[in-house]
Amino acid sequence: MSLSLPTTSPSISWEDPLDLMDEIDRLKKERDAVILAHFYVDGEIQDIADHTGDSLKLARDAVRASASTIVFAGVHFMGESAKILSPQKTILIPDLQAGCSLADSCPAPSLAAYQAQLRSQGHDFQTVAYINTTAATKSLCDWIVTSGNAREIIDRVPPDKEILFVPDQHLGRYLSEVTGRKMILWPGACQVHEIFSVQDLLRAKKNNPHSLVIAHPECPHAILEHADFIGGTEKMRQYVASLAEPKLFLVATEATMIHPLQKLAPQHTYIPVPGIMASDGKTCACNRCPHMARNTLQKVRDCLRDGRPEITWQPYFEKAREVLERSLLK
Ligand code: 13P
Ligand code: SF4
Repeated sequence: MSLSLPTTSPSISWEDPLDLMDEIDRLKKERDAVILAHFYVDGEIQDIADHTGDSLKLARDAVRASASTIVFAGVHFMGESAKILSPQKTILIPDLQAGCSLADSCPAPSLAAYQAQLRSQGHDFQTVAYINTTAATKSLCDWIVTSGNAREIIDRVPPDKEILFVPDQHLGRYLSEVTGRKMILWPGACQVHEIFSVQDLLRAKKNNPHSLVIAHPECPHAILEHADFIGGTEKMRQYVASLAEPKLFLVATEATMIHPLQKLAPQHTYIPVPGIMASDGKTCACNRCPHMARNTLQKVRDCLRDGRPEITWQPYFEKAREVLERSLLK
């Protein structure tokens, strides 16, 4: 069923999600495709996906998938990494404009210039990049980390080398603290995690005295210092699942993360930070990633039907492939 809504924009039309899901199922079979969805995309996409996960698991799922086509519901750098690690597969992404403020903050030419400057100053370093970077930037780096493998990878950097960590200054600062390695930090930040307000968090804690705070390491230090648990999205899932007694969690990450947490560990209650505003009990939606939110069921259907947008192989992917394979697959 397709219904045009009475709207001033003639291009907006509503389609029944159940019809869309049936169509997606049919197109998946026709195209020999699987759907991968990050924990930050809409719950209804996660529910129809063949695999959900954090950046690390999804990159590995893309390699392991036997299907010839992958629809990657996430953001551009995720689809790009999947293509680099599985060049023979067709990688479709629902919206080519789904970017990332971290990836945007560290363009390859700026990184190359900074690396040259550091070398000219006598620094002997290796560059460790968060996976939230473009392939061109990855190709200038020695290691790639995700929130799921960062500590292990940093342990692989020779101890006599300095570390240039790009592009997330908050994740870098946190990793420097937990690994004891001194780091030169690139000044990037995630636009979602950066805006959490300490004041709102403290107010939420005060209103919910027995709550536990779980926070993504992309959050600034001022938030992390109030956290009971710090970890990436998969580690958050494992943590809440490990607690059998019902708890109240204040969740300091992208708000959609509550969907997989609730699904895996429904015994708990989850409140997004800064979900509770003052004393009126209202919630806000300012903690949604606008890039992840570009993924919709309609666009998943469209890309399966049309075979585009597609991430195509670029010559500079070859160098990024070496570093991605070494970091994520070995
Ligand atoms: P993880 O799911 O790997 O923790 O990453 C979070 C994120 O910001 C993805 O863009
Ligand atoms: Fe990038 Fe932040 Fe969105 Fe993740 S949540 S894709 S880091 S902007």
